Parts: sequence; structure tokens; C-alpha cells
Amino acid sequence: MLGIIGGTNFLAKSPFEHAEEREIETKYGVVPVLLFKFNRKEVAFIQRHGKHQNIPPHRVNHHANIAALKQLGVEKVIGVTSVGSLKIEIKPGCIVIPHDFISLCNIPTYYDDELVHITPKLDEELRQEIIKVARDLGINVVERGIYFQTQGPRLETKAEIAMIRQFADVVGMNMASEATLACELHLKYANISTVDNYAHGIVDTELKYEDIVRAASQREDLPKLLLKLVEVLA
Ligand code: HPA
Repeated sequence: MLGIIGGTNFLAKSPFEHAEEREIETKYGVVPVLLFKFNRKEVAFIQRHGKHQNIPPHRVNHHANIAALKQLGVEKVIGVTSVGSLKIEIKPGCIVIPHDFISLCNIPTYYDDELVHITPKLDEELRQEIIKVARDLGINVVERGIYFQTQGPRLETKAEIAMIRQFADVVGMNMASEATLACELHLKYANISTVDNYAHGIVDTELKYEDIVRAASQREDLPKLLLKLVEVLA
């Protein structure tokens, strides 16, 4: 089964219609999961910001979300995140499939009481599958990129962006945490990042969260890409 975690792109809606809603109880909390069948293939979809769209990024229960997918028998997880661009050539409107990430603080773990040190990474095979499906659909994606995770909920200062843009291509608040926990549970994890704004100070226009949400929720290519991924990967 394929697992998909959607974010700001799917705040008020799911990309899948006629899904069955289940509450999955985990050691870390209860997670509402939408189970969707397509051509006898099944996908488990989680709304990262909750079904009432009120969980801010620093309060998302990534532990419960990833554990719920594991309990359901999911092997591959695609995280869909909204990001800001750190590079002028990565324009709002495009999609990036990151190949790596940076997250230097607030790193979550399932191993609080054991000496376990995983080596985190994004799953290259799953990444390539996403790129191929996007290409076959004629959706233009940026095939590599480094995702920098900040904690939120506030956006970054201009000085922070001036620093992190030297090391990364896009900035968001969730992917590194999900990828890390997925690795700890031996799940394959890759990410689709929709570029919904230029990060603070990259261009002169004022940056407002409402504009980011508006851009993120108007992505017509995304539901098409996800449906095809379910067909190919689930
Ligand atoms: N910064 C952090 N997270 C984001 C941004 C941003 O500019 N855009 C969308 N998510």
C-alpha cells in the first residue's frame, strides 16, 4: 500500500474522493486516515495539518502519522509539502523532487531510550519513480534539490534566508522530520515539493502566509500526479 501525507496543498480537501475514513490508534496518538481504492490499489492519505486544518507545523504529530502508516502495512510514503524557493531560477509554480535535506535542530526520533543512529536519506528509487510518472504526464519537475527545514510556525527572516540559500534550494517546515522518522521505521520515503512563493527577501514583493496558502491550494497538476502515482506505485 502507498502512503501519502499532504500538507498546505490539501488543507481543506483530499485529492481522493469517496475515501473511507479510519481512526488509527498508535502509541503516539490517534490519526485520521483516508483509505482510498483505485483499480483495486489502495492508498492511505493523511492530512498533515489535521482534518480541521488547525495543526501548525511545530505541533504536527509526525511520530503518530508515520507510525499509523507503518501499522497499515504501508511500505512507500510520499510526503507532499509546500515550500518557498531559495533560488531565483526555481520559480513559484514549479515542483521540486528533492534529493536531500538539511535539518539541524528539533530532529524527531523513535529512539529516545535506545542507542540507535540511523543514516537518513530520501529513497532514490521512489524519487526516480515520481520523476518518471511526472515526466510521462508532461509535468515539468525540478529533478534535484536540497530542502532546508525550519521549525515554524513563523516564516524566516531575510537574514536567515540569506544564510540558508547558500546551502539549499527550497525551504519548508515538515519534510525532514517525516523523512527521518520514516527511515527509522524502514519505510521508503520521497517528497514532492510545490514551490508556492519565493522565500523572504529573495524578491522584493512582500511575503504573506495567506498568499502562500492561496498558491498552494490552486495546484492543478498535483491531484493528477498523485492519482497516477497511486495507479503506478500502490
Ligand atoms: N518558508 C517556510 N515554509 C514554507 C514557505 C516558506 O517560504 N513556503 C511554503 N512553506
